[in-house]
Amino acid sequence: MTTTQTASPLHALTSRRSVKFLRAPAPKQDELEQILQAAMSAPDHGALRPWRFVLIRGEAIGKLADVAIGAVKRSGDPRMTPEKEKSVREWMAAVPLFIAVAQKIAHDNTKIPEQEQLLATGAAAMNLLNAVHMLGYGAFWSTGMGTYVEDVQNALGLDSLDYRFLGYLAVGTPACAVPQATRPDFREFVTEWSGPV
Ligand SMILES: Cc1cc2nc3c(=O)[nH]c(=O)nc-3n(C[C@H](O)[C@H](O)[C@H](O)COP(=O)(O)O)c2cc1C
Repeated sequence: MTTTQTASPLHALTSRRSVKFLRAPAPKQDELEQILQAAMSAPDHGALRPWRFVLIRGEAIGKLADVAIGAVKRSGDPRMTPEKEKSVREWMAAVPLFIAVAQKIAHDNTKIPEQEQLLATGAAAMNLLNAVHMLGYGAFWSTGMGTYVEDVQNALGLDSLDYRFLGYLAVGTPACAVPQATRPDFREFVTEWSGPV
């Protein structure tokens, strides 16, 4: 049977695109629980479950903006101009939910290299993005908002000795229509190996 692109179950994956500008409503509580549960199906060598998620919503978003912008300014980052601060605050205030994503580092695991723990956490985050999209919402992975400033991750309860902070997923309802993305042809990225070169 021939299936059209939209009829294919894969359409749920191929139609996802990141949506930066979001507004309320966020996924309802039962939807959010389904989204978070989807992350638990990520591939995970050694069943370490290295992923950690911190939900930030409601008044906590304004507090996050204060913490992140303050820490970025203290770090001396010249990009945090007054104009940038204004736009970041406005953007954050419109987003109804942030999910901070972190890898809990299993330092003493001799079997599973840390990079595999990182990959498992990335795969879990990808499941979140896809689940958000499949439920009709939008999301955007950002490593702005002080992701690489130690004070910010510590303020989120992710102490930098034990956690690698990987940024935030902004989640909500797309603020405007989202046109389909143009994606590259997979053939540019694939080779076939038939034996030693
Ligand atoms: C780990 C990670 C961090 C990212 N951080 C940012 C960011 O800080 N700012 C930004 O504009 N895009 C960032 N992006 C890219 C966007 O989330 C998004 O993937 C990109 O705009 C392309 O959209 P698409 O997902 O529809 O292809 C990041 C992506 C990843 C995977």
